[in-house]
Amino acid sequence: MNRPLAFAVALLASPAVLAADGKALVDRYCTGCHADEVYTRPDRKMRSLDTLRLQVLRCNAMTKSGLTDEDIAAIVDHLNKSFYKF
Ligand code: HEC
Repeated sequence: MNRPLAFAVALLASPAVLAADGKALVDRYCTGCHADEVYTRPDRKMRSLDTLRLQVLRCNAMTKSGLTDEDIAAIVDHLNKSFYKF
């Protein structure tokens, strides 16, 4: 048995496994209150990456889903790349 090697492989593999998928997170945690249309509506409220990040934090607080900082970053990244494009 080669435990150190298995451990090293697990360490190397974990970032890929844990890397949060922003779209999957949004689909899972955010569609209860609003669909994706809220990000593309003509009078959408976000005006910068900073306000977007704050809004995601605010909405996340309402979901009480315990998303990590990494999850939040992945969500902001996904929303920005797919919808806001700041
Ligand atoms: C408990 C209900 C609720 C949940 C769950 C929720 N939101 Fe929201 N969200 C709101 C409300 C209410 C608004 C404000 C809508 C308005 O201004 O008309 C909003 C607005 C937003 C906006 C701003 C849209 C704009 O005008 O540009 C973003 C971005 C957003 N939510 C992201 C998220 C994300 C990401 C999640 C999941 C982590 C989430 N929301 C989950 C209630 C929720």
